[in-house]
Amino acid sequence: MSNEEKLEKNEENISRRDFLLYAMGAWATVGVGYALYAMYKTWEPLPEVMAQATVKFDLSKVKPGELKVISWRGKPVFILHKTKDMTKCPERTVAGEYTVVIGVCTHLGCIPNWEPDKKIWHCPCHGGEYNACGVNIFGPPPRPLDIPPFKLEGTIIVLGEEGPEYRKMISG
Ligand code: FES
Repeated sequence: MSNEEKLEKNEENISRRDFLLYAMGAWATVGVGYALYAMYKTWEPLPEVMAQATVKFDLSKVKPGELKVISWRGKPVFILHKTKDMTKCPERTVAGEYTVVIGVCTHLGCIPNWEPDKKIWHCPCHGGEYNACGVNIFGPPPRPLDIPPFKLEGTIIVLGEEGPEYRKMISG
């Protein structure tokens, strides 16, 4: 084989090697992209979880003195229509009349029971108590019951979305 032929053969090998490297690189890029997309899809919340992300409830369904418990993101939410003889707390009162709090004790996570005669929530686990505003008044709970993010649309409360009233509450 002449030198020229050897050179030509060598160039041919190099260009074939380059092509294979480019092809492998392209396949690797596609593979990594697909793997990242698959991971993203895994992290995306399931449709039923998304459906639970916001919950709408008509506050006008709750009569004065009545407590309704609804479920939001797997947690109970207490909606209490307060009466005049219940603790006043404008800074924690929704639409001027309602206490809306997550029904999970801020001590160790038990579900407090509403005691209508005393107008308090009593936690069965360690005796913690919260007034009608959801503020801790006795026992081990370190802070009031949490207020879920909410938005008002007339008498409809939308849990899971932050409206101006909620933002004002948490900033105060
Ligand atoms: S969990 Fe409620 S007082 Fe301990």
